[in-house]
Amino acid sequence: MRVATRRAAGLDEGGWKGELRDEVRAYFDAMAEGWHTRTSPQRSAIVSDALARGVEATGVPAGLVVEVGSGIGTYSPLLSERFGAVVAIDLSLAMLRLAPTKPAFRVQADGSRLPLRDASTAAIVLINAFLFPAEVARVLAPDGVIVWVNSSGECTPIYLSSADLLAALPGKWTGTASQAGAGHWCVLRRTGV
Ligand SMILES: C[S@@+](CC[C@H](N)C(=O)[O-])C[C@H]1O[C@@H](n2cnc3c(N)ncnc32)[C@H](O)[C@@H]1O
Repeated sequence: MRVATRRAAGLDEGGWKGELRDEVRAYFDAMAEGWHTRTSPQRSAIVSDALARGVEATGVPAGLVVEVGSGIGTYSPLLSERFGAVVAIDLSLAMLRLAPTKPAFRVQADGSRLPLRDASTAAIVLINAFLFPAEVARVLAPDGVIVWVNSSGECTPIYLSSADLLAALPGKWTGTASQAGAGHWCVLRRTGV
């Protein structure tokens, strides 16, 4: 997963090719049934902390909020509570099938090719999910926000440090990074191209 994470983010060579995407999708399709065992109040508390302290500090423009790599929808209630309407996107249909139909709208798509217009999104939420920097930069509003969470800190399989996150993203950003329990989070708001 580390190799795929860095390739998706453009930090290592190889890129996000069809073969890698198919491998990742098959992996998560197979994991879907047991994914609920990876959820816990402690993990939810990390997301709550990122929303409370990180998003509160940066602010978020009005508009659509999209969670990419939403899995079985564990964090949809927390996100909807904070943002209102949320679109939850995942590559794995098996994961999406296990997600509740509310409060988020469910969409199957590849985060490297989001079915969203340029600059249409106020915030992109990535919780233990791949970062596709160019696509995130394309769909985010000029002053949009990224919420990045690694539930197990540096031990998270899909992990990037805040420095890697900033190195991978095009443009200028300001924000806050912190830790909560075992987790790390970083909330960034775009300030320029
Ligand atoms: C590690 S799981 C995290 C799920 C959830 N965010 C959580 O923390 O419980 C990563 C999720 O990203 C999805 N995923 C993997 N590659 C993706 C892609 N290219 N586009 C969208 N989702 C993807 C997987 O299917 C999986 O549901």
